[in-house]
Amino acid sequence: MNYSGIQQQDPALYEIIKREEQRQKEGIELIASENYVSKAVLEAMGSVLANKYSEGYPGKRYYGGNEIIDQAEGLAIERAKQLFDAEHVNVQPLSGSPANLAVYMALLNPGDKVLGFSLDQGGHLSHGHPLNFSGKLYTIIPYFAKKETEIIDMDEVEEIALREKPKMILAGFSAYSRNMDWKRFKEIADKIGAFTFADIAHIAGLIAGKQLENPVPYFDVVSTTTHKTLRGPRGAMIMCKEKFAALIDKAVFPGVQGGPHDHINAAKAVAYGEALKPEFQDYAAQIIKNAKALATALQEKGYRIISGGTDNHLMLVDMFGSKGITGKEAEKTLEHVGISINKNMIPYDPRKPLDPSGVRLGTPAITTRAMLEAEMQTVADLMDQALASRNDENKLAEIKQQVKEFSLNFPVPGIE
Ligand SMILES: Cc1ncc(COP(=O)(O)O)c(C=O)c1O
Repeated sequence: MNYSGIQQQDPALYEIIKREEQRQKEGIELIASENYVSKAVLEAMGSVLANKYSEGYPGKRYYGGNEIIDQAEGLAIERAKQLFDAEHVNVQPLSGSPANLAVYMALLNPGDKVLGFSLDQGGHLSHGHPLNFSGKLYTIIPYFAKKETEIIDMDEVEEIALREKPKMILAGFSAYSRNMDWKRFKEIADKIGAFTFADIAHIAGLIAGKQLENPVPYFDVVSTTTHKTLRGPRGAMIMCKEKFAALIDKAVFPGVQGGPHDHINAAKAVAYGEALKPEFQDYAAQIIKNAKALATALQEKGYRIISGGTDNHLMLVDMFGSKGITGKEAEKTLEHVGISINKNMIPYDPRKPLDPSGVRLGTPAITTRAMLEAEMQTVADLMDQALASRNDENKLAEIKQQVKEFSLNFPVPGIE
């Protein structure tokens, strides 16, 4: 990207952007929810579509001058429908949490029971955290991973559902490395007449890239962010069966939001266009191959991977259990050498959320930089060396240099 306008007008901010570009180029990005968007997606986000106000939906706006905006939003909707085989799509949610708020508002009344994946085992804040709208307004009944396997036990989910009779069953996660049994969730919900809601924020790109099963044909409503494996702008969308279309649209606008961000919706259209190309399927397949290779390389070095491996783009590592290093310490040490990860609770974690036993690693961003399985060995080596040398400043400085030299071999889209 060329930032000549900012450079001229606002040197202080220009400097900040350039430093962030450098950080992104010289580091290894293993945060499972991050990715690098294409130059085309960046351009759409920086386009004049940002100037418009367009409350409402294509063809039914509360502001004039939206004929062209309608076409941009229409492209995003049509491409999303094709990508996920969806009956109805709303591309206006500003981010994942407001998208989920709109789904709750559309289908539930305050106080209604929702069955969701326990937050300390991989669920998201918007799936029932006590400080989030979801936990404050609704009665959340958690389901869990089984202690011995660290995998969700669908028989137990069924038992809880039959006992508690929630109005909605929510399937989705921010930190779980195994496949979800969408069909079984739907069968369970049908036994008690519950709505089915899948939040595929993390794995949308793997589903669009035809590597993981798609819940859209089974579920009443599916939400996703657009900026993780799907590799679009920061934002979200909601897909649903036609019979819920009016409820969902009304909940997004005017229920939760005002005017949509038209430049971001245009960038969603660009990203969905990219995801419809056959190369995106190769990308999605490579993300998973890389995650499996990284998990194996770490296991060979004595790190315990939760549930024994991964089926998707992410993994949880029991740092404390296998190496006596807390998640917080690991995050800080790796940041010091230019490797970005995040600390994370593991199932049945004996430690606290701010300094848990685990870390979460993901491969979407490094796969965008065209790293392959062989590079996962190098990434694991660099991580392991840094963690082993965490009290040795000189050694850490050396490893930082190695991380930089290694990373610069892999261009970041949008950074010249
Ligand atoms: C499963 C899931 N849902 C929703 C969200 C919320 O997205 P946002 O951060 O855009 O509000 C996230 C973000 O990490 C997520 O992982």
